[in-house]
Amino acid sequence: MGKEKEIVVSGIRSTGILHLGNYFGAIRNYIRMQEEFNCYFFVADWHSLTTHPDPKALRGNVFRVLAENIASGLDPEKVILYVQSDIPEIAELYLMLNMMAYKGELEKVPTFKDKVRQNPDNVNAGLLTYPVLMSADILIHRGLKVPVGKDQEQHLEMSRNFAQRFNNRYGYLFPEPVPFNFGDDLIRIMSLDGNGKMSKSENQNATIYLNDTDDAIRNKIKKAKTDSGPQAPNSEKPDYIANLFTIMRLVSTPDTVRHFEDAFNNCSIRYGDMKKQLAEDMAAFIRPIREKAEAIEHDAAYLNRIMRMGAEKARESAAATLREARKLMGINFY
Ligand code: TRP
Repeated sequence: MGKEKEIVVSGIRSTGILHLGNYFGAIRNYIRMQEEFNCYFFVADWHSLTTHPDPKALRGNVFRVLAENIASGLDPEKVILYVQSDIPEIAELYLMLNMMAYKGELEKVPTFKDKVRQNPDNVNAGLLTYPVLMSADILIHRGLKVPVGKDQEQHLEMSRNFAQRFNNRYGYLFPEPVPFNFGDDLIRIMSLDGNGKMSKSENQNATIYLNDTDDAIRNKIKKAKTDSGPQAPNSEKPDYIANLFTIMRLVSTPDTVRHFEDAFNNCSIRYGDMKKQLAEDMAAFIRPIREKAEAIEHDAAYLNRIMRMGAEKARESAAATLREARKLMGINFY
């Protein structure tokens, strides 16, 4: 028999609607991973509580993010897909790991410092210990590979530290998790206004969401930043133009891309035409995802079935790890 598949764990934020950057970054990675690894993917609803979201909004957010991931190709039969708050074992491991996490190191985390700056009135302990909860998410399944963006690598480094500390103090239990992606074709999509990466918090009009209507997509692409065109043959592309080509490569045919590449290189390009073509190809690309996600999102019975199935499998793995952790720590009195 072949060796056991490696364990992959990743948390999906439950806030906001997914956009093109998420799709071609995280989700496509997940979809490739589901074929090769033993994947645990979950909606990180506890993590979202650091910002005190409206209780009435939570269910919708969780349903939405599950629906969008499934519509994008994540297969609940292939991966263990669950909601974090369905796995109480994570909370218990979080408590244990908190005893191994030091205030000083937590305060130094750049994402924490950013949050403090953005929200000085809500610097709660959950925010400070966010990397501890994230570590519990991963270590509860003894996860090895974690598909995350650059901004999360520091959190993962802390996970390795906590794993090591636990192992040194109590005996080996946790492998040290490492960041993982299929690197070579990791695609960075910039905002359509040319300002930084496409993100849900910045300019909404420069971000294409998976639930945008055809017309919304057309409008946004029409407004994308361009200029008066290249001044000399075979010029280097400004980054906002290169970005339009990057996006076009993802959704248009190779012939279409070549046509506009040639036009750029011989200075005959008309960005209006390019954007029109891109808008149609983008609309055709997003449409089936949007329609499928909408249908799934409103099918509570289906989603509940998926969530239960995922929770059952995830709890099995989580309970086994927690049993070992308790034993190693001496919490076995019966
Ligand atoms: N912190 C991650 C983010 O903001 C989400 C997350 C929570 C996560 N727990 C995780 C990612 C565990 C990987 C593994 O995107």
